Amino acid sequence: MTKYCNAEKTLLVPQIIQLPKILDKRGNLSFFENDNHIPFAIKRTYWIYDVPGGEVRGSHAYRESEEFIVALSGSFDVVLDDGNEKKVYSLNRSYYGLYIPRMYWREINNFSTNSLALVVSNTEYNEDDYIRDYGEFCTMRKNL
Ligand code: TYD
Repeated sequence: MTKYCNAEKTLLVPQIIQLPKILDKRGNLSFFENDNHIPFAIKRTYWIYDVPGGEVRGSHAYRESEEFIVALSGSFDVVLDDGNEKKVYSLNRSYYGLYIPRMYWREINNFSTNSLALVVSNTEYNEDDYIRDYGEFCTMRKNL
């Protein structure tokens, strides 16, 4: 059974953002521009690839980092937990991105073969920004 920490909801909510798609017989093209599509200033880009079947990435929250995730290839599910409820966002098109505010417990699972997750963030990598303990996340959520 799923456990939640009964935290209050915040105003910042996750959002699917549709990106431009330039249809072309030679192959389609999509893009995002920081000022026009991403709700924060991009400081870092990373990507997750070669994920073996059944593996799970994430299982943590960030104190300050916000992220925008695109399934550039294949598909995967992003499970977001705000302390009250979990929502599953299935990403399977390269012209949709998921905006994740700070302070969401997130897990990425159900990766298809050869899937490629592109992630942009508003911070540089900093291990101190991670909350890796769900109990600690619940406490922090309640005190937001
Ligand atoms: P982590 O964020 O825990 O992976 P995930 O959330 O996808 O399961 O990062 C795994 C490792 O990679 C960890 O040792 C830190 C390192 N890392 C960087 O060096 N830079 C980065 O931008 C990221 C995201 C991770």
